[in-house]
Amino acid sequence: MKTMEGNNRKTVLITGASNGFGLEFAKLFAKDNYNLVLVARSADRLKELGYSLQDEYQLQNLCIVQSDLSRPESPQEIYDELKQKGIKVDVLVNNAGAGLHGFFHETELERELEIIQLNIASVVHLTKLFLQDMVARNEGKILNLASIVSFMPSPLMSVYAATKAFVLSFTEALQNELKDKNITVTALCPGASDTYFFKRADAENTRAANGPLSSPEEVARDGYNALMKGESRVVSGMMNKVQAGASNLLPDSALAATMRYQMEEKSDEDRKTPESKL
Ligand SMILES: NC(=O)c1ccc[n+]([C@@H]2O[C@H](COP(=O)([O-])OP(=O)(O)OC[C@H]3O[C@@H](n4cnc5c(N)ncnc54)[C@H](OP(=O)(O)O)[C@@H]3O)[C@@H](O)[C@H]2O)c1
Repeated sequence: MKTMEGNNRKTVLITGASNGFGLEFAKLFAKDNYNLVLVARSADRLKELGYSLQDEYQLQNLCIVQSDLSRPESPQEIYDELKQKGIKVDVLVNNAGAGLHGFFHETELERELEIIQLNIASVVHLTKLFLQDMVARNEGKILNLASIVSFMPSPLMSVYAATKAFVLSFTEALQNELKDKNITVTALCPGASDTYFFKRADAENTRAANGPLSSPEEVARDGYNALMKGESRVVSGMMNKVQAGASNLLPDSALAATMRYQMEEKSDEDRKTPESKL
């Protein structure tokens, strides 16, 4: 694989590019002639995606980084590898993330600590490293994956929702800190979407996972547009916008009750069609 020295296209680093939103971001950036740095644990899937985008869009440069971002060392290793290859990151997309379904007193602590490392610590660490370089150049853009659950407590996904509340708060604080610089930080807040997320979170039987789902293409497009405009936050999808708006009006206890209903397993009663309920 070629290094990115000596070409003047911009470079985006996308974490979690092997599936879901990350894969769609990779397509959007490739289409706009960015060099790609794709990060995830599944190197084979990243290579397959990277090579097909290289063929389709005649990418100048592609860098595949296999890394597990639930390891605390991972962000520094990624940064060092790119420095060593002479790759400057113009856009950072902190997309990789995971959740876990269940009552907190029953779920596995180890998985939750990994989720906190992945969804919070790795985002903070990567942002710290790459933002300092962006500030030195007075140029750059960052997109962080928050969620509709950033706005509300989410029983049965308590740790996940709290990590996403962190991401939204962190992003909007940075956007303010950087307002006099040519650097923007954007939070993308999707609702339930058609990716591997629910399956991986052991939440595939919940009402949320079996209700209306946004398409990953649409969500990535909303995030991409907001990032390019330098907006501090975008909620993807009309119903999600309404839900985020309602979160300002309703007490947290009511929001928690609504989210609990969504996160409970779909019952036989839910599965009945309106006709069969008669
Ligand atoms: N889908 C939804 O309903 C939804 C809604 C709101 C927000 N989000 C957020 O959107 C982001 C993307 O999720 P998605 O829905 O696209 O889920 P997904 O289909 O499960 O994709 C997750 C991506 O993250 C990568 N990843 C997971 N754990 C990783 C680790 N330890 N180290 C490195 N990479 C890792 C995965 O690649 P490997 O397995 O190859 O490592 C994959 O590429 C997440 O931050 C999620 O919280 C999702």
